Amino acid sequence: MNARDLSRREFLQTTGAAGLAATIALATARLEARAAQEKERTDPDRKIRLGVVGGGFGSAYQWHLQPNCEVYAVSDLIPDRCNRLRQVYKCDRSYESLEKLILDDNIEAVAVFTEATNHVKHDVAVMNTGKHCLSAVPVGTTLEGLQQVVEAKEKNGVTYMMAETSHYRPEAMLMRQLYQDGVFREILYSEVEYYHPARRGSAERQSLWYRNNKPTWRHCYPPMWYPTHCTDFVVGITGERFTEVSCMGQRADFEVDPERKDNQYGNPFHSGVALLRTDRGNLCRCNRSSQYHAHGERAQWFGAEVSAFMPSWAGQPFVIKRDGQGDLTTRPDYFHLLPEPMRVPTGHGNSHTFLTHEFIMALVQGREPSVDVYTAVAETACGMVAHESALRDGERMKVPSFDKKA
Ligand SMILES: NC(=O)c1ccc[n+]([C@@H]2O[C@H](COP(=O)([O-])OP(=O)(O)OC[C@H]3O[C@@H](n4cnc5c(N)ncnc54)[C@H](O)[C@@H]3O)[C@@H](O)[C@H]2O)c1
Repeated sequence: MNARDLSRREFLQTTGAAGLAATIALATARLEARAAQEKERTDPDRKIRLGVVGGGFGSAYQWHLQPNCEVYAVSDLIPDRCNRLRQVYKCDRSYESLEKLILDDNIEAVAVFTEATNHVKHDVAVMNTGKHCLSAVPVGTTLEGLQQVVEAKEKNGVTYMMAETSHYRPEAMLMRQLYQDGVFREILYSEVEYYHPARRGSAERQSLWYRNNKPTWRHCYPPMWYPTHCTDFVVGITGERFTEVSCMGQRADFEVDPERKDNQYGNPFHSGVALLRTDRGNLCRCNRSSQYHAHGERAQWFGAEVSAFMPSWAGQPFVIKRDGQGDLTTRPDYFHLLPEPMRVPTGHGNSHTFLTHEFIMALVQGREPSVDVYTAVAETACGMVAHESALRDGERMKVPSFDKKA
């Protein structure tokens, strides 16, 4: 009997909320053991010389606090933003562009936080200089672009990771471990969602959609082209792949919201609701919206005997429920898995420090990172196809695989 079956049997034999609490304590102990083992195997003197590009969201990470990382240089096209990066990461060296920064042979890896529409171009350029790449989400905006990223990673033998914040929300970390421990057996159905309203006339729209009175890349960006905060809640937990999708898009009313008319993407939708099937026959409903009165990223997962619910901005509490045997409502906190200087609160459910740490540890240990290129592409590709399905009024479409052939 393997460990997965054993822990599942233990789990089913335990009774009541105390049993559920013990299962969760076991999952936490496994995470702690892994972190301790990795720390033991890490040479404290090994430093990864990192370049950081993009001083908006890219200044919200903790590279300067990671013990095996040295921020060697930073870059942003906008001088103020470049200065912000210098200050946040306590780094004196800067370049006027990513294109200049990647010519510096001292840099081993680059964290790319440029516009979503530029990720493929920038990430491929980074990897083609033999440097490892951490990229902000999503991988890209076309299936051809995703293929180029996979090819650049494989051809250059470098490491690629996508900084998907949903992957390190504490509920997702717990779910991943519970799934690995066999507690769920299968997650038969999940509901995943990401809402980021940019309603007409709101300050949020103004700051996201315009810079110097010109539209930014976020202006009318197709909702399903930004799927990874949702899809990681399945792909990043069970390792499943989405194989088909049918998506209904919700069209903006251009009379009411003329700013959305004639946009750079020719995108008619403010929201999309996709129904996806996985390679193990499980189902997922995925919502994306820039219009609904709703906020944030969350999931709820349903197995046959166990279900789990992330908290929601609207009041749903965190809860794990087991058939007839009570609820567990204590939300885990994994700060203690991080090196001491990194135990600081961050954005997106405190995920930023975990992403920072994971990328550097993958490089130091010479292993693939958690959100590796195949995971990242699987989380992104289904959204590209979902958007196409929405344009075809919900036509059911196949999602291609970018995985390495066995
Ligand atoms: N939860 C999350 O994971 C999350 C949250 C916010 C943003 N993001 C992602 O982070 C990325 C950045 O988001 P943002 O809001 O900061 O976008 P942004 O458009 O405000 O910033 C992008 C920055 O990249 C810089 N840049 C572009 N090309 C460059 C080049 N060649 N050389 C140097 N600098 C260059 C720009 O000058 C700009 O400052 C996006 O891909 C977005 O999808 C992810």
